[in-house]
Amino acid sequence: MQLGVLGSGSGSNLQAILDAIDAGTLDARVVLVLSDHPEAYILERAAKRGIATGVIDCRGFRSKFPEEAQRETADRLKAAGVDVVCLAGFMRLVKEPMLEAFPGRILNIHPSLLPAFPGLEAWKQALEAGASEAGCTVHLVDGGMDTGPVILQEAVPVLAGDTAATLHARIQAVEHRLYPAAIAKVAKSL
Ligand code: GAR
Repeated sequence: MQLGVLGSGSGSNLQAILDAIDAGTLDARVVLVLSDHPEAYILERAAKRGIATGVIDCRGFRSKFPEEAQRETADRLKAAGVDVVCLAGFMRLVKEPMLEAFPGRILNIHPSLLPAFPGLEAWKQALEAGASEAGCTVHLVDGGMDTGPVILQEAVPVLAGDTAATLHARIQAVEHRLYPAAIAKVAKSL
């Protein structure tokens, strides 16, 4: 199974996917990594591994993922032979024509127990709401903001004295195990 990964930030989830492939627990290959931020560390991680990378031109929009950019992205992923697209900290809403190009084959990881706390900095939202539990979810993308059928989900406790940083770190440790497992689960069903 050939994976394309889209990310806007550090790419620790990409790293976890690559580590699972190296460890033999995920039978897949990452063939293309794209980012909407030319400086994003995810591109450097990929380049260090010899994986093809590219920048998505979002036409100057700060948070929108314009239709032409989605078309170009779908074309690049298809040309690279991508079977499944993994959003790994990609902070723009993926819609048509991406969804049409990869029906049921776009996954996202989100740092909350969806449907609770969709959107930005979900771990901060959980902390501010006084939740006793946070977590993370891998789901299929359906065009909504962090919506779509759940593939795997795992809870993480919120501990007394947690800060946004300590809670996010605890969630990310689980994300790094959950995302490769969810991709393996999807691979079996294809
Ligand atoms: C992850 O915690 C991921 O769940 C979150 O961005 C972080 C990216 O980290 N995604 C979202 O909030 C999507 N709504 P990474 O770049 O180190 O993988």
